Amino acid sequence: MKNVSIAFIGGGNMARSLIGGLLTSGSDPGRLYVAEPDAGQREFLRGRFGVHASADNRDIAARAEVLVLAVKPQALHGVTEDLAEIVQTRQPLVISIAAGVREADIRQWLGGEAAIVRTMPNTPALVGSGATALFANPWVSDSQRQVAESIMRAVGLAVWVDHERLLDAVTALSGSGPAYFFLLMEALEKAGIRMGLEAETARLLTLQTAFGAAKMALEIPENAAALRARVTSPGGTTERAISVFQDEQLDVLIARSLAASLAIMETPTLLTDQLDDLVARALDAARHRSEELGNLLGGQP
Ligand SMILES: NC(=O)c1ccc[n+]([C@@H]2O[C@H](COP(=O)([O-])OP(=O)(O)OC[C@H]3O[C@@H](n4cnc5c(N)ncnc54)[C@H](OP(=O)(O)O)[C@@H]3O)[C@@H](O)[C@H]2O)c1
Repeated sequence: MKNVSIAFIGGGNMARSLIGGLLTSGSDPGRLYVAEPDAGQREFLRGRFGVHASADNRDIAARAEVLVLAVKPQALHGVTEDLAEIVQTRQPLVISIAAGVREADIRQWLGGEAAIVRTMPNTPALVGSGATALFANPWVSDSQRQVAESIMRAVGLAVWVDHERLLDAVTALSGSGPAYFFLLMEALEKAGIRMGLEAETARLLTLQTAFGAAKMALEIPENAAALRARVTSPGGTTERAISVFQDEQLDVLIARSLAASLAIMETPTLLTDQLDDLVARALDAARHRSEELGNLLGGQP
């Protein structure tokens, strides 16, 4: 893998993250090539990573065994048609990270048969903690699958799906997923401030709690339901908050949001307001129980 030559078409955020991840994993910068129209960006890529950068997509594409299409989805049609001759002649592995654009369309724009892996990464890839799903078309060999997986693993988790249509579900779950957690973080912070905490205190407590919960869920071999049960003592503060979430069917709210995402609808503002209100009520219930327990265990203040 370290000796595979890789050409990135588009040297923006995602390409930079992948290049950074590959170099950290030991790839040779001399085997990484980037096509990028912006001169300032090219200078940055050369200076920061020591890779070869050029404005000429075809020249860059002709140098590598793997082609990573890292332009915006709207630019993909023009970019791939321009590379069709090179791809048909050299038959590289083509990896698309563009959201939404289907393998059949990319293959057609590339002039016919081509080994294409379509991927759906997410934004935490920018900080090396992404979650990417990959789909390979029938022209992709086993060794090319391994190469594609290693490239995406340079910025986090990489998992395969067997049917391309599942990438729409992946988009709704992990592609849009970071925003759901950000939404919950916003609601928790607001509720903390409402209960009297300093804004910075509420922010730090929220972030560390989100980080700690994710770390526990990753490191302890129990599912989320079991972990939740573990921190929910009968009659305790967490139980009070959770019962508010359950009464209001938070899981139904989440399922509706995912369905909306699948249908490519905007998350309704109503949902955001509902969630803010729900989180505020849940935290109030937990705070109230905390006061009750303090009174019960230590006598009235
Ligand atoms: N960022 C994410 O978290 C994320 C998550 C999932 C999927 N993706 C996918 O990843 C792809 C790249 O996203 P990004 O966030 O990295 O976008 P980005 O930062 O805008 O990068 C795209 C780069 O491509 C360059 N470019 C534009 N037209 C080009 C052309 N004809 N030939 C070569 N390069 C060209 C752009 O240069 P200029 O800026 O000079 O136009 C820009 O540097 C997108 O398709 C997106 O759907 C991104």
